[in-house]
Amino acid sequence: MGSDNRARHVAIIMDGNGRWAKRHHLPRAMGHQRGVEAVRKLVRSLDSTGLECLTLYAFSSENWKRPEEEIGDLMNLMRRFIKSDLPEFVANDVRLKIIGDWKGLDPDIVKMLEDALEQTAKGSRTLAVALNYGSQQEIARAASKAAAAGEITPETIAAHLDTADLPPLDLLIRTSGEVRLSNFLLWQAAYAEMWFTDVLWPEFTPRHLAAALEEFAKRERRYGGR
Ligand code: FPP
Repeated sequence: MGSDNRARHVAIIMDGNGRWAKRHHLPRAMGHQRGVEAVRKLVRSLDSTGLECLTLYAFSSENWKRPEEEIGDLMNLMRRFIKSDLPEFVANDVRLKIIGDWKGLDPDIVKMLEDALEQTAKGSRTLAVALNYGSQQEIARAASKAAAAGEITPETIAAHLDTADLPPLDLLIRTSGEVRLSNFLLWQAAYAEMWFTDVLWPEFTPRHLAAALEEFAKRERRYGGR
């Protein structure tokens, strides 16, 4: 046992808001709203997890295919979340980071995010939020930059990914019983452990994260060696 087995960076595909709402005979928007509450609780527990970074898949580049009303609901939740929780991030030493093509979001959200990034820049634990994020697009962008700089190698691509300044991904969690990556952190997950749970995102709590981290600490990672 030792600090070697402790996860530094966990990423989560937060899935099942819609099914949670359906099960409770509520509108989908309520599922997303409860999903934000689950995010809030997790961020509040970040310090006690010992993690350096938590990365959350909040809006994928494929989510634009959803009905306009649902996209509007998700964007409004984002606006409200930043507005209400930013002071808490600052007080709790949380650094916000955004990955994905987020500059393509509505200008007022981009402005709010830029302001939030600036205010939280000195935080010691990172909350990375994937917005308008697609992993294949991210890899293509990074490869173009690597090529423009002279050489395409795994190292030069990695150095241009949105996550270049984050610790290596240790553990990837997906909720709601789905077992796929859905264009999330494909490159970064090369040696990550996976943890799948049937729990729907609005019901995911810091205790579930603690259970995943406990199991992670017991796993033996070989990185292709033996
Ligand atoms: C999946 O549920 C969830 C999403 C597409 C969005 C995740 C967003 C949040 C939890 C809220 C916003 C986050 C922040 C950080 C403010 P689904 O709708 O695909 O559920 P279903 O598969 O059961 O229909």
